[in-house]
Amino acid sequence: MNDRIGADVHFAARLLHEGRLVAMPTETVYGLAANALDAHAVRHIYNVKGRPSNNPLIVHVADKELIGQYVAEMPQTAERLIAAFCPGPLTVVLPRAATVPDIVTAGRDTVAIRVPAHPMARQLLHETGLPLAAPSANPSGYISPTTAAHVWDTLGDKVSYILDGGPCTGGIESTIVGFDGGVPVILRHGVVTQEQILQVAGDVRTYSGKKILAPGMALSHYSPRTPLMLVDDPGNVVSALPGVYLGIITYESNCSALPREQQIVLSAAGNDEIAAKHLYAAMHDMDKRGYELIAVKRFPDKGVGVALNDRLERAAHGNDYNTILKKSNSLYDSK
Ligand code: TXA
Ligand code: MG
Repeated sequence: MNDRIGADVHFAARLLHEGRLVAMPTETVYGLAANALDAHAVRHIYNVKGRPSNNPLIVHVADKELIGQYVAEMPQTAERLIAAFCPGPLTVVLPRAATVPDIVTAGRDTVAIRVPAHPMARQLLHETGLPLAAPSANPSGYISPTTAAHVWDTLGDKVSYILDGGPCTGGIESTIVGFDGGVPVILRHGVVTQEQILQVAGDVRTYSGKKILAPGMALSHYSPRTPLMLVDDPGNVVSALPGVYLGIITYESNCSALPREQQIVLSAAGNDEIAAKHLYAAMHDMDKRGYELIAVKRFPDKGVGVALNDRLERAAHGNDYNTILKKSNSLYDSK
């Protein structure tokens, strides 16, 4: 038995009060939590993740009524979105109140804040009575964890305790929304879709400027160690890369050009929410198998598929057939 993994919320709350780090389940991915009001504890998060100090953290609170304590201004559209989607996988970025330490916002004048819906996260937040700063519980740049075992595999005993709340149901990170003159601007696509935000707010934009507003959205992110490519037709990959040992993650059906053992089908029924739930676990699994390439079939570009393709584009950044073939050939040359 691993005594650093368990379901003891009291114990986890005590550790957080002592300034230690606890991994907590949320409905999106597991977070690496610390008391957001304790700058020393929050610094520890950056160290453990190897996270650049200019990349701010999301503050998690127990109830939507608490958001007001940490923000200086609340546009009406933000209020409407919060009423519609919190608790849930929506993060709002708003002007911050002086109560939020600089290290949480990486010195910015805005704070990202959300109310997780996972019962164990809510219990933990209520029990501590604290706001918790929590990025995804993975080393910076790697795939986010959707099970307690993923956290253990990548961060291990750098975390005081891992609260095990089972596999995350959402499977990808929250949707992050900023506001420009009251108009919601999507900074990171996620489980709450652009269509849903439009319905509630009456207007929505996707941030398309050159300046990176959410520093975690830099290219090259969410990557497994194995090179990954996002492709329209997995069958083409098999013929374009003869002799390359590869795994394929497909949306709804197997690819006939490759043995089944080398494939993971995310949702045989073609349900994009189920596919989202299983995507990161499939990437974690395939990353352990020694493939030279993981090819993932592109999702239909609607609903949560937009967020999935966005994550995969970043994970695939810099990889193409030529680089994969070259790497593979040099591997054989050196044998
Ligand atoms: O679902 C989630 O959001 C998960 C769970 C654990 O809550 N958390 C998560 O945190 O994905 P993290 O740190 O991996 O991603 C947070 C993103 C980063 O891209 C960061 O740059 C952005 O939020 N962010 C945080 N504060 C911000 C701010 N004030 N302005 C703009 N972007 C901000
Ligand atoms: Mg992250």
